[in-house]
Amino acid sequence: MNCAERLVEIFGSQAEAARSFRLDRAVISHWIKVGYVPSRWAVEVERLTDGRVSATEVLNEANAKKPVRVKSRTEADALGANDGSFHMQSFAPSKRISSFHPPQRTLMGPGPTEIHPRVLTTMSQPAIGYLDPKFVEMMEELKSLLRYAYQTKNLLTFPVSGPGSVGMEYCFVNLVAPGDKVIVCRNGVFGGRMIENVERCGGTPIVVEAEWGSPIDPQKVEDALKANRDARLVAFVHAETSTGVQSDAKTIVEIAHKYDALTITDAVTSLGGTPVLVDEWGLDAVYSASQKCVSCTPGLSPVTLSERVVDHVKARKDKIHSWFMDMNLLLGYWGETTRTYHHTAPTNSLFGLHEALLLIREEGLENCWARHYRHHLALKAGLEAMGLQYLVKEPYRLPQMNAIRIPEAIQPKEAEIRKTLLSEFNLEIGAGLGPLAGKIWRIGIMGYSARAENIMLCLGALGSVLSDMGMSLHEGDAEGAAHQAYSTHHAKAAKQKQQGTKRAA
Ligand SMILES: Cc1ncc(COP(=O)(O)O)c(C=O)c1O
Repeated sequence: MNCAERLVEIFGSQAEAARSFRLDRAVISHWIKVGYVPSRWAVEVERLTDGRVSATEVLNEANAKKPVRVKSRTEADALGANDGSFHMQSFAPSKRISSFHPPQRTLMGPGPTEIHPRVLTTMSQPAIGYLDPKFVEMMEELKSLLRYAYQTKNLLTFPVSGPGSVGMEYCFVNLVAPGDKVIVCRNGVFGGRMIENVERCGGTPIVVEAEWGSPIDPQKVEDALKANRDARLVAFVHAETSTGVQSDAKTIVEIAHKYDALTITDAVTSLGGTPVLVDEWGLDAVYSASQKCVSCTPGLSPVTLSERVVDHVKARKDKIHSWFMDMNLLLGYWGETTRTYHHTAPTNSLFGLHEALLLIREEGLENCWARHYRHHLALKAGLEAMGLQYLVKEPYRLPQMNAIRIPEAIQPKEAEIRKTLLSEFNLEIGAGLGPLAGKIWRIGIMGYSARAENIMLCLGALGSVLSDMGMSLHEGDAEGAAHQAYSTHHAKAAKQKQQGTKRAA
């Protein structure tokens, strides 16, 4: 059977094969007639048949049926010397490159997360212009979906084009003028980056430290504000991805406001995973990222700014030090009334963010937080059954970012363990950073990655690799504990629902 016939067999009919290749049926029928698939389709054939018909088979067959006739050419002809492109060839890649098809991984690291198929499909739709009326309509919906995710009525709520780091920088360049004193809280990697930002804006950071793995102590923030009455800004990370700890945003912001200071909150890992109640807590400037619990493609940073922030930035007498991130200029594109060119917006990524936020809206924000928590409980039960311990104390733990202490005996093999998880189980988990490098693993259950099948895969795979490395484990204990946690949680939820229905009746 030739490759063309095998395709028809795999897809069930010529029509189905044509649909899968997005071709007219007559094309497939022609392949059957001539008895081979043209070589330019080799990679697609391998991809669409999941390797059942390999690209090499297609190439060999096509070449046997219709060999490429190469005219005898001089070396200079072959390299294009005679058509003026010779010098360009010297910049060509040294190996033959074909289209990139990433492997199918289970992503349980600190981000990016897996992406819901609906989001992927939406992103692959035809591009339209960033000022197309249909696109502008979509932008308005996107802003309203973001307001829902952030629980805010802030008009200035939109995605900055760029990853979370750009959202961070956007908040700092707009809010920090040279000479400003800023209280910056640091309990992990990202607090450290905030300090960098303040310094690069010409400000003076007053650092409030907490141990890595502990939350920020609000009392220390108050002490710093008392000692620095001229500080007008407090910056902190709500969910520190490097350690899996959550700080008390509401209390920190209350304290800042008592001293007439505005706040910058990093909600990169919290948005969509745990409550970020912008209006209720009175948060001022907040940024997040698209690739964590929002579960979209990386490269967008949703921000929301309170009216106080907008007034503060508008009142600045000096020129904002970044053209791209100047809030007043960006308002021309994302503001309420005007739509003028500022930069070429990443249209297809924004389609994706619209769909990812729509999924959250359909699930309901509270259900979304509850889903992250439910899978966290199952993961925790399984990990503890394996004898593994959490870095962070229970009340401050982030459900979506689980920082696990690596037992001392296997610390020297930690990189090898992650490598084996990836190569044998297609499973990615995160390593520790800074002082915690080699000492913890970071297991993310964010957005679309927060699913029972992922929890079970992770427990099974980790258990298998750890016992291969010599850790004594009872096979199946971890999965059993996770199942038990799920059923306890479901029974509790059913009872609560029943009580609620009785009360309502
Ligand atoms: C808490 C926190 N802030 C900021 C960032 C930076 O985001 P990005 O990598 O999208 O630039 C990250 C990334 O992991 C993060 O976890």
